[in-house]
Amino acid sequence: MSGFDVERIKADFPILSRTVRDDQPLIYLDSGATSQKPYAVLDAERAFYETTNAAAHRGAHQLAEEATAAYELARAQIAAFVGAKSENIIFTKNATESLNLAAYAFSNATALAQWGTAVDPRFQLQPGDNVVVTEMEHHSNLVPWQELCAKTGATLRWISLTDDGRLDLSNLGQLIDSSTKVVSVVHQSNILGTINPVAKLMAAAHAVGAIGVVDSCQSIPHQSVNVVELGADLVAWGGHKMLGPTGIGLLYGTAEILDAMPPFLTGGSMIEMVSMERSTYAKAPQKFEAGTPMVAQAVGLGAAVSYLTGIGMNAIAEHEHQLTVHALNGLVAIPGVRIIGPTTGIDRGGAISFVVAGIHPHDVGQVLDNLGIAVRVGHHCAWPTCRRYGVPATTRITPYLYNSESDIDAAIAGVREAQRFFQVAS
Ligand code: ALA
Repeated sequence: MSGFDVERIKADFPILSRTVRDDQPLIYLDSGATSQKPYAVLDAERAFYETTNAAAHRGAHQLAEEATAAYELARAQIAAFVGAKSENIIFTKNATESLNLAAYAFSNATALAQWGTAVDPRFQLQPGDNVVVTEMEHHSNLVPWQELCAKTGATLRWISLTDDGRLDLSNLGQLIDSSTKVVSVVHQSNILGTINPVAKLMAAAHAVGAIGVVDSCQSIPHQSVNVVELGADLVAWGGHKMLGPTGIGLLYGTAEILDAMPPFLTGGSMIEMVSMERSTYAKAPQKFEAGTPMVAQAVGLGAAVSYLTGIGMNAIAEHEHQLTVHALNGLVAIPGVRIIGPTTGIDRGGAISFVVAGIHPHDVGQVLDNLGIAVRVGHHCAWPTCRRYGVPATTRITPYLYNSESDIDAAIAGVREAQRFFQVAS
């Protein structure tokens, strides 16, 4: 892997030098769940608390001014990282909250309209309307839309999956029709690894006047993504999977949509004027940022995107692609291993789920853990996807920029070790 110095990158992540399970070196292959953090992020957050800590967008003292400037600088850095303008980026608690913010805009608008408040009709749902998702959604991009349908009488539709882990787009014209109000799809599946043609799906949404939403949790950390080019009205993702702290998520929205959407959380700092009878709201992004914001986390995430930019997202994507192909080839070569998702590196990212005949996925994970290798087991918050492929769970490896081919080789050897341990013929 010429030019990509994994050992130098690893040295930037203090946790990667620790040992686990009887003093074995940690091999971390669970970055799809959360990424590890480099010194640059840890230092930025600590420095903020040591020198600048105050509540942003409140108060007129020097620290409050500096904290506000740090918070807004982080927003600008994150916006630039995804090709957006600052005013189009909303800070939330996590990607799940970002997606709930989107879904609640519709149920809030529908409720407000019933009591006479003027709201954009695109956000009002009624029986006969539909919401379209896919069968490979993370629960965070499925359950909020189920709730919205339950509250409004709308119908949930979904794009089903092919046996090789792709979206079945053969009946897209029937699924997305003139009664569709929302199309919300995952960019890169957290369980299958599949990269979906979201620009095409957003165009199909817009062709019928629906609002398009993209869950980019697993794409923005791993490839260069320009949110404007995705063509979506709203794009959700989180900070902790891209080297940033937990407790911070993002929602990109076009200016027009953010202006039209009613707020999700209400209270301090999101208002324009408040009287005892009623309130009016500030413009985005403040309209969607009620309460004391997560300033230190924003500063940490700003440092994370600087770090990723310094290495280069295209170089990271190429490195991960090589690791993914190496892992797929190694796993496919083991008799009894079945990949759940695309088996080649074409249009897929590094989330590699698999099952081993005769061994429960949790037991495979246990054997790997005993070898110091951290992977995720379970349904990965994508239970319907597991059902589609007839498996109760999978074992999943998700490499990132700090993983090497030798980490993948160790995981593959660990799968063979699991087969030996459970006396499953390979
Ligand atoms: N969504 C995260 C995962 O897939 C937590 O592991």
